[in-house]
Amino acid sequence: MNILITGSSSGIGQTIARRAVAAGHRVVLMARRASLLQALAEELNRPLPGQAVVVPGDVGSSADCEQAVKTGLEAFGDLDALVNTAGTWVDLPFAEVSYEEIERFVHTDVTGALQISRALLPHLRARGGGRLLHLNGLQGLLRQRPPVLYAAVESAVRGLCESLRWEVAGQGVHVGLITLGAVANTEPDDPAPDVLQHQGQRQRLSRGEVAEAALFMLSRPPGVNVDELVLTPLGQQL
Ligand SMILES: NC(=O)c1ccc[n+]([C@@H]2O[C@H](COP(=O)([O-])OP(=O)(O)OC[C@H]3O[C@@H](n4cnc5c(N)ncnc54)[C@H](OP(=O)(O)O)[C@@H]3O)[C@@H](O)[C@H]2O)c1
Repeated sequence: MNILITGSSSGIGQTIARRAVAAGHRVVLMARRASLLQALAEELNRPLPGQAVVVPGDVGSSADCEQAVKTGLEAFGDLDALVNTAGTWVDLPFAEVSYEEIERFVHTDVTGALQISRALLPHLRARGGGRLLHLNGLQGLLRQRPPVLYAAVESAVRGLCESLRWEVAGQGVHVGLITLGAVANTEPDDPAPDVLQHQGQRQRLSRGEVAEAALFMLSRPPGVNVDELVLTPLGQQL
């Protein structure tokens, strides 16, 4: 598969890109920090050139999303799937969130999810199918708790996936959502299990575990949609 991965300059997106290339797929790397994307592309292309291309850009910009799709098509001739991991985080009480933080959060997580899906969809429809996969947080599923802003934006992403799935099913486009509990951000992709535990209980997922889940969803046979996969560490208090 040729997969467009947003948010691949760091964190979960970067790990998914590594796992995807290791599994034989090619990737288009999109995020704002071009130098981090370049470094990752060099790593991924070292064993076998041509596996990764870089498109620096902002998912909240329709022009940048269009450019990411165009670059991917020029490089690989086709795009099969999107994995949208671009996201940000604000966990202040809602009355203390600045107006700028609201704009930034909605811009990345909501406008970004909409714009990047909109940019790739015409190509997927024209080729007769493909997959759109979005990453979400538990607050989009369990909304009766803070942070309020996170619950609001993640609920919007859930709405996008749940509604779009029905609209594009007839064109062979599969839409999936991965809802995540806590994920280890600063450790290696696959740290030792005890690093992810607290008082003998699993409190965080590894990024490698999330990447395996994403590749599982992307590799289902055509016609099989994993609507949603909820992945949580067993000891996380919900
Ligand atoms: N980590 C967790 O515990 C956790 C739990 C539940 C859900 N999630 C979700 O998983 C996703 C990834 O999280 P993460 O932990 O990997 O976060 P992360 O390490 O902070 O990575 C976020 C990525 O998004 C990119 N990004 C941010 N704003 C962007 C924009 N406007 N345009 C393009 N790219 C943008 C960042 O790159 P640039 O700064 O270079 O643009 C970065 O590559 C998020 O949607 C998050 O909500 C994470």
